[in-house]
Amino acid sequence: METIKEGDLVLIRFKDRRYLKRVESDKNFSYKGGVLHYKDLVGKPFGITVGELQIFKPTLEEIILYGIRRETQIVYPKDTFYAAHKLDLREGKKVLEFGTGSGATALVFSSAVGPSGKVYTFEREERIYRVAKKNLERFAPYDNVVLFNEPFSPERVGEVEFDAAFVDVREPWPFVEAVWSVLKPSAPVGFLLPTANQVQELLRHLRPFFGDVEVVEILTRPYKPNPDRFRPEDQMVAHTAYLLFAKKLSK
Ligand SMILES: C[S@@+](CC[C@H](N)C(=O)[O-])C[C@H]1O[C@@H](n2cnc3c(N)ncnc32)[C@H](O)[C@@H]1O
Repeated sequence: METIKEGDLVLIRFKDRRYLKRVESDKNFSYKGGVLHYKDLVGKPFGITVGELQIFKPTLEEIILYGIRRETQIVYPKDTFYAAHKLDLREGKKVLEFGTGSGATALVFSSAVGPSGKVYTFEREERIYRVAKKNLERFAPYDNVVLFNEPFSPERVGEVEFDAAFVDVREPWPFVEAVWSVLKPSAPVGFLLPTANQVQELLRHLRPFFGDVEVVEILTRPYKPNPDRFRPEDQMVAHTAYLLFAKKLSK
């Protein structure tokens, strides 16, 4: 059975709050009502109750929501996990992404393509690139991310033909042909766009390069898990972004 080791990440659940922490034996976790000494967790299994606390092994979604340093607006896991599914990312695939931002999307893609896959990701701002680099070093599940500190250009990826691409920049339409040029025939592409006018502008630029276009918005509606008062949470995230997916058409 896997047990908690020094340096492991743990998800601590206290009442309705979640905390992502690293187990460091000389440190403690203080909460209203007590103190947890991390050294007491070492050697114990994940998924245990300690007083009022529950201790779990964090999922990738929790690492992204509660762990990574954010220098840019990150893409919510509800959107990135759906994108990984729509882009058909699986073990061994090669995916192109830009801009990297804080690296939240790259983390999900790294996990999806596994140790034999590759994620090529471009971030043009040095300050943001550094944050992404740290986040990827700390949290990427595999050593399969190639991070460039420069604007995306097809020349930089050389002969690589990608199985999929994902674009999250404010004005993606000038890059449509460049992205098209590095994809395998029929390969899927995804774009993340916060506003409707960006979607409209991109739609105008997709032909003749991409077909089978879909635009979706992912809404999640959380519920209070109380068997006696089961009902939706009072508040929800109403809008994060539109996701546009399409597939490469050969000329
Ligand atoms: C909203 S953030 C991306 C967030 C990221 N997808 C995540 O999950 O954390 C957009 C980023 O794109 C970068 N960017 C804009 N144009 C770019 C380009 N042509 N090449 C590479 N990066 C670019 C910006 O510097 C910014 O950091």
